[in-house]
Amino acid sequence: MQAKPLVESSMMTSMAKPPVPGQVRHYLQFADLTCEEYAYLLKRSAWLKTKFKSYETWHPLHDRTLAMIFEKHSTRTRLSFEAGIHQLGGHAVYLNTRDTQLGRGEPVEDAAQVISRMTDIIMIRTFGQDIIERFAANSRVPVINGLTNEYHPCQVLADIFTFVEARGPIQGKTVAWVGDANNMAYTWIQAAECLDFQIRFSAPEGYQLDSSRLTSAALNHLTVCASPKEACKDADLVTTDVWTSMGYEAENTSRMHAFKEWMVSTQLMGLAKPDALFMHCLPAHRGEEVSAEVIDGPQSIVWEEAENRLHVQKALMEYLLCGRLD
Ligand code: CP
Ligand code: NVA
Repeated sequence: MQAKPLVESSMMTSMAKPPVPGQVRHYLQFADLTCEEYAYLLKRSAWLKTKFKSYETWHPLHDRTLAMIFEKHSTRTRLSFEAGIHQLGGHAVYLNTRDTQLGRGEPVEDAAQVISRMTDIIMIRTFGQDIIERFAANSRVPVINGLTNEYHPCQVLADIFTFVEARGPIQGKTVAWVGDANNMAYTWIQAAECLDFQIRFSAPEGYQLDSSRLTSAALNHLTVCASPKEACKDADLVTTDVWTSMGYEAENTSRMHAFKEWMVSTQLMGLAKPDALFMHCLPAHRGEEVSAEVIDGPQSIVWEEAENRLHVQKALMEYLLCGRLD
């Protein structure tokens, strides 16, 4: 009988391809991938989720290193990326900008040159989108946006996967956004344009969308509503987010006042379709942007939504390093 190898060959080799200068793909905003690529990623996320649930080993990123750079707080993003790369056979290095030379003024461009020579893929959570763009322009390896002031593409990818899992294709559906014109709202608008569904947006006066950030194609997928009630009417999905995002804490008091009518309540959910889902990227503030009855109620799918960060980001990292594998 042939001796069993001490280490299975699938555990020794990585399926990741070496980076080709000029061909490295980044994921800095939702619009960075095409509709076809999203179709692949959604299918792949489901495949990876099934593998995870049945404890099957899958190590296409054996020996690969993910650098995770955080300039803001996180629970889900840090955990899902770290667990995700580990489950794909690689490992993560956590860098908080406060503890690195970035926090002492080292240029983003220099940090990108160095970090991308020692690692295979990089995730960044930072403030301005310009910071992640400058980083990516100087990186030899893929850079993923783990949230900026402008966008949160990994979260919306997880949200769409969650919707598709529960209700089927999102194309042609209506998503009600109740709340701030923040990173999540703009990412949903990009997703609506890319995947062909409708957004009904409602925010208080003074917190509206900046029209200079909206493409004419996006406007075909967006209706700005006068009230949260109008936004929620007949929606397939109702979603919201904190009234004060990270980095805007100084505005907290004025926002608490301005947004007080923008809480997703049972009454608002009652205006949506009877089988409408409720989502929130979390962390949530019960009694502010959502009532406890809604977030803890039968239409809420927030825990599955949070878990799905893990599965979609595994599909994303695998895709950026290995390409299509099916
Ligand atoms: N939704 C989300 O990104 O959560 P964290 O801030 O905990 O990472
Ligand atoms: N809009 C929120 C999302 C947190 C995950 C923020 O930027 O703080």
